[in-house]
Amino acid sequence: MPASSTVTVDVHLDERDLRAALERDVRAGLGASPKHIPPTWFYDEEGSRLFEEITRLPEYYPTRAERALLERHAGDVATLAGADSLVELGAGSCEKTRLLLDALASSSPLSNYVPFDVSADFLCDAAGSIAEEYPGLRVHAVVGDFLAHLDRIPTEGRRLVAFLGGTIGNLAPAQRARFLGDVRATMSRTDSLLLGTDVVKDRRRIVAAYDDSAGVTARFNRNVLSVVNHALGANFAPERFEHVVRWDERAQWIEMRLRATQPETVDIEHLDMTVTFDDGEELRTEISAKFTPEGIADELARAGFAVDRQWGADEGEFLLTLAHPDR
Ligand code: AVJ
Repeated sequence: MPASSTVTVDVHLDERDLRAALERDVRAGLGASPKHIPPTWFYDEEGSRLFEEITRLPEYYPTRAERALLERHAGDVATLAGADSLVELGAGSCEKTRLLLDALASSSPLSNYVPFDVSADFLCDAAGSIAEEYPGLRVHAVVGDFLAHLDRIPTEGRRLVAFLGGTIGNLAPAQRARFLGDVRATMSRTDSLLLGTDVVKDRRRIVAAYDDSAGVTARFNRNVLSVVNHALGANFAPERFEHVVRWDERAQWIEMRLRATQPETVDIEHLDMTVTFDDGEELRTEISAKFTPEGIADELARAGFAVDRQWGADEGEFLLTLAHPDR
């Protein structure tokens, strides 16, 4: 690595914390009625690979649509934000980072790049490559949970805080409000927030994106059962659970579920827990909310942000919203 690039990694979440969180979520979620498990646990190595595959499916439009918006409008985002530092929440493999860094660099010299993610594996490789590609850029990776460790994010520079990919849709409205409030609390008046959200559209199009004909999303969904098997010594038979996708018109979100195709008794050895499923009983594995431009602006306003600009707002497939703290 050239001497001019520096990488720092702060870890606020280690293997033990993650495991404790999984135990808590499985105990609570599989003990509840209806049963549920948060989508965080999809992403082991196999799950992350399957998600990458999803992003290339013909039916799964969000990734391509967001990338196209960034390619077209990153320059405007950078000009409006006037930032010298980029904070990327849920950075993962830093797929879209370069578009934003290049745009920011063309108006002012870059100071810091702060990728923030729950997975140290991804983050560290990606942070290293970015540091090599952008000499002089300080890369300060933070491993943490965006519902718990936002206050650990470094605050130097004039920052653009990006939360892309539509991941905010995994949160229910009350959680979103809290999350946006927490993000607001870490920001100063001159910082900006760039939010990527999927958009409400023809329900068949949305459902198809989560129920692709090649069955990749079904494998991704069932993989959460393998994650529980491996991590907690459970004996789920993933092949006996059916991939179910439902559009909830009232809540405006997609729900993914796994439906037992026969009565099941599952032992979760490490939790000393036995879970039974009736024939046809469903386990909710994800919600993925879809938004309107006005809805997002409202939620942001309630969290103390004013919208600078939205891209994709007129009949687009996806939406980018740039906002700043309004007081
Ligand atoms: C990564 C949460 C944005 O909700 O579209 C893709 C995850 N789930 N296919 C989404 C996902 C099923 C994705 N997010």
